[in-house]
Amino acid sequence: MTGVPGLHVADHALLSHRLAALRDVATPSPRFRRLLAEIGAILTMEATRDLPTGMMKVTTPLTTMDHRVLAGPEPVLVAVLRAGLGLLDGAMQVMPDAPVGHVGLVRDEHTLKPSQYMLRMPPEVTTRGAILFDPMLATGGSAVAAVQRVKEAGAPRLRFVCVVAAPEGVLALRAAHPDVPIYTAALDERLNERGFIVPGLGDAGDRCFGTEG
Ligand code: PRP
Repeated sequence: MTGVPGLHVADHALLSHRLAALRDVATPSPRFRRLLAEIGAILTMEATRDLPTGMMKVTTPLTTMDHRVLAGPEPVLVAVLRAGLGLLDGAMQVMPDAPVGHVGLVRDEHTLKPSQYMLRMPPEVTTRGAILFDPMLATGGSAVAAVQRVKEAGAPRLRFVCVVAAPEGVLALRAAHPDVPIYTAALDERLNERGFIVPGLGDAGDRCFGTEG
């Protein structure tokens, strides 16, 4: 499964350490939010490793040199509400100049189908492309819908960042949007009968904001 084209499972000691705490049922909301933000920063670094770059002259206190820099402006960061907000906090730390979009989706707990309740995209999405953030890729229904909405808004290039992914979600997103690479901190075992990722980390939105599912 890890050999799925377009699936990148980030392997980093600091990321794994934080993910262990994020999964822990005893981790309270304030710490959960902090961890999610830190993980968002690390995963943003992973997902942007191959952004196009060019060379620029830089004058140091000692000399002048050619230096590698981003070739264009930063892509739009898109949070899939609600839980994507947690990752967005970290992404904005490492890409402070990026415009931000929001897609509001909620999954029906019985049918597991997502429904949209809001969509706001900055105009830059049509030229810069976007990175979508949602901690959970479970059935993949929300990710498929979110990517579709951002494509309809005109984004030419997309990447999807999550924290835990189920094999079912990875396959669904890759099948629906084979042009969108997936970056995750972990590929988990399976979905349970209620559509929760196992072992997973529970409901990221509820744990982030202290609500009950
Ligand atoms: C969760 C999660 C994803 C979605 C994943 O959100 O944050 O958006 O479910 O499930 P799927 O892959 O089967 O679609 P939820 O709908 O619970 O909303 P919330 O973030 O507001 O809690």
